[in-house]
Amino acid sequence: MIDVPELALVALVGISGSGKSTFARTHFKPTQVLSSDYFRGLVADDENDQSASADAFDVLHYVAGKRLAAGRLTVVDATNLQSHARAGLVKVAREHDVLPVAIVLDVPESLAWERTQGRADRTFGRQVLTRMHRDLRRSLGSLAREGFRKVHVLRGTDEIAGAEIRYEKLF
Ligand code: CTP
Ligand code: MG
Repeated sequence: MIDVPELALVALVGISGSGKSTFARTHFKPTQVLSSDYFRGLVADDENDQSASADAFDVLHYVAGKRLAAGRLTVVDATNLQSHARAGLVKVAREHDVLPVAIVLDVPESLAWERTQGRADRTFGRQVLTRMHRDLRRSLGSLAREGFRKVHVLRGTDEIAGAEIRYEKLF
């Protein structure tokens, strides 16, 4: 059971192919989910244009802030493997007095690679995934210190598939 405050900024954390977008679709309303791909598309006409990431995240943070100001649960579907990327989310949450929560999807790199190879919209090489996986291992050590109120780590496909979100009342 994943306890999430009913008003929270939820950061999904996981390598490409770990199932973040699938998890987001399963557990949250489409409008609750802000995905980095979508915002890259908005600002650059190309969801994969990594050079658009800075602008995409500016807009994503802006929308997240508006949602949190209105008291709406918000989920960020991005890899969130870098501490500076997560710091941006913690900052937006704090600015709106909202609790940041992390949900980590930890799957074997080999499984993620297998899934990635079957996708037309992912063309990066294996070494990119290896780097992400290394960043994930590093992240697991530092997430709790970065200001996340809770860090839920789902290990393996069974734990991810069996996860349920339980909303905690704030007052
Ligand atoms: N997938 C799957 N079984 C799951 C979860 C995902 O077969 N339990 C498949 C999806 O259908 C998709 C691929 O694995 O083809 C990647 O899943 P996705 O949720 O898109 O992964 P993300 O973590 O969102 O990947 P990215 O960071 O690249 O967006
Ligand atoms: Mg995705």
